[in-house]
Amino acid sequence: MIQHLEREAMPSSQQSELPVLDFQTIEFYVGNAKQAALYYNKLFGFDIVAYRGPETGHRDSCSYVLRQNNIQFVMTGALQPDHPVAQHVHQHGDGVKDIGFAVSDLNQTIELASRRGAVVTHSAASLADEGGVVHKATIATYGDTTHTFFECEGYHGVCEPGFEPRHLPANPVGLQRVDHIVGNVEKGRMEHWVRFYENVFGFRVFRSFDQSDISTQYSSLVSKVMSNASGTIKLPINEPAEGVWKSQIQEYLDFYGSPGVQHIAISTHNIIETVDALRANGVDFMTVPQTYYDSIAERVGEIREPLQALADLGILIDRDEEGYLLQIFTQPVQDRPTFFFEIIQRAGSEGFGKGNFKALFEAIERDQARRGNV
Ligand code: FE2
Repeated sequence: MIQHLEREAMPSSQQSELPVLDFQTIEFYVGNAKQAALYYNKLFGFDIVAYRGPETGHRDSCSYVLRQNNIQFVMTGALQPDHPVAQHVHQHGDGVKDIGFAVSDLNQTIELASRRGAVVTHSAASLADEGGVVHKATIATYGDTTHTFFECEGYHGVCEPGFEPRHLPANPVGLQRVDHIVGNVEKGRMEHWVRFYENVFGFRVFRSFDQSDISTQYSSLVSKVMSNASGTIKLPINEPAEGVWKSQIQEYLDFYGSPGVQHIAISTHNIIETVDALRANGVDFMTVPQTYYDSIAERVGEIREPLQALADLGILIDRDEEGYLLQIFTQPVQDRPTFFFEIIQRAGSEGFGKGNFKALFEAIERDQARRGNV
């Protein structure tokens, strides 16, 4: 029997919070930005709204800006083999390079972050064009991943100076906003990165999951969710734990070549319509056995959505004291078994689907075994 020992950590009292407001742009480094942009346009319903490349005076890389409701992704690819983006892709495969945050005051943010020990990889810069000014700066986090702070107040251009508008609308699938972004770090390093988000960002531990929560017969991991006080930004951090099989987190680390972003969870107001549309577009999802749904009504009680529709689409359900949530996970979206997406609809619950961990991780283990990585 798995013990469910979710703990609320004590509120952090040590550091004031950086003036971060919400997630902003998430930048991916990819092998072929043109094709990646169309993948997210055609499969995931993102409009292509802006472009930067040689035609706009940017000689060594191409970037496409994708937008759907409150979510903005940038796909960037290199044009030369010695470009840092090409080296990043060589090392890691396609993946998330930068998790951007909107801030109310860039100078205050970067000054505080650096005083608290953050490594500044790009110091504060102000970019201007006819749309106005964007102030930005970047710090390092786990692996080669970075956080860029954007102060865009009053900017009227399409993304940031240097980009020109593109207009390739998508058939929308109802993705609304980034709910949380999960990082995988090496065994023994989770506490280091928890302290980083506490000390540099002034975030607190919102949830903790230990081995008794997240283990199957074969493998295991531990996780802590870092959050700002308003709850707009949630950053879970996973590390592998010992098991009979290789932890799914260790498989990620082996193939990404370092710590990095494991998944982005995106919210929707209607997960049945969203997942139906994504499946029709060709997105493939992790599957749980139909036995998962056998005793689901007893486990989750009354919910608004028809259970059969959820079962048909493979959507998972979890309930806690605050309400319930519906969630589903895609297969990795690139060749390497690294980064994937979660689609989530919350109905009161602020949790992460703890009741689904076992079914979900058994599904991941089956896929891991098929790849020969156990
Ligand atoms: Fe998640």
